[in-house]
Amino acid sequence: MTVSKHLDTSTSDKKKAAERYYDENTPGIYLKGWNRDHIHFGLFEPGECPGPGEVLADSPGLARAVERMVEVIVAPAGIAAHHHVVDAGCGVGGTAIHLARTRGCRVTGVNLNRMQLEIATGKVREAGLDHLIGFQFADCSLSLPFADASIDVVVNIESACHYDDRKQFLREASRILKPSGIIVAMDWMARDGLTVEEYDKFIVPLCTPFAVSGLESQSTYTDILREAGLEILQFEDFDGKDADNLRLVENAYNFLSTLQFSGIETPGIRGLIDQFGTLYEAWRNGSFELRRYCARKPEETG
Ligand SMILES: C[S@@+](CC[C@H](N)C(=O)[O-])C[C@H]1O[C@@H](n2cnc3c(N)ncnc32)[C@H](O)[C@@H]1O
Repeated sequence: MTVSKHLDTSTSDKKKAAERYYDENTPGIYLKGWNRDHIHFGLFEPGECPGPGEVLADSPGLARAVERMVEVIVAPAGIAAHHHVVDAGCGVGGTAIHLARTRGCRVTGVNLNRMQLEIATGKVREAGLDHLIGFQFADCSLSLPFADASIDVVVNIESACHYDDRKQFLREASRILKPSGIIVAMDWMARDGLTVEEYDKFIVPLCTPFAVSGLESQSTYTDILREAGLEILQFEDFDGKDADNLRLVENAYNFLSTLQFSGIETPGIRGLIDQFGTLYEAWRNGSFELRRYCARKPEETG
């Protein structure tokens, strides 16, 4: 595995909000406080969700739930060993490693966070999957560093909510996909039909704390997928099977609030309480939801 020469290792003060957010939160909140390989929500079987006080990063139930989420998202793509998969917004490489290990396919992870790419590189080396997995530094809002019609499957998990320009991302995904190539994705979304007041009240407050640029809904995503020339095959929620994630957000919120009530209050803890509080409220009242889609680049005509 190599990190491509496109990876600019210089430190830049022009980092995007999402890159700064993951610089600050990858080592602590995500890798120690959630899961060591996957930075996304899970799908839990009954009894699998860790209880209050359990160390999430050590939880076998959470580890199974996050892998199950990947499986449910990618299933419609039918990924096979001869495929070249692009994982756009690849985190620390958990999905790339899972796909290469289980399908034997080639995967290229794309990310605008250099710290995560370095962690991912180490994980791939440890897993002995260098021959199948590579990484590219790129901003998915701008361009995807692949030739036209060269990729079989694009995977995009809880990442596009950060992009400044999701239309451009989908145009790029469409450009790099081979005819009949597939994009499978899961994203943070606003419920269709929210009023402007509801969007302002429940969605806007969670955007800055999570470095999210604003949330699509199923219908706005449908429009931009179609504009990008992609044919939607599935667009679904998780039929309530993602509900245990809300319990975990609530547990985190309660734990942080207990610290605050006990007098342990730092600006960091206050910030996290606001962050988890806004997500908890929007999810609980149904303004926020997780949805997944699968879309195909049509066969060339003529
Ligand atoms: C919630 S994490 C999900 C990571 C990974 N997909 C997973 O499921 O474990 C969001 C990811 O998107 C990446 N990201 C955010 N904005 C991006 C952009 N404009 N271009 C490329 N990657 C981006 C972040 O650095 C991070 O790796």
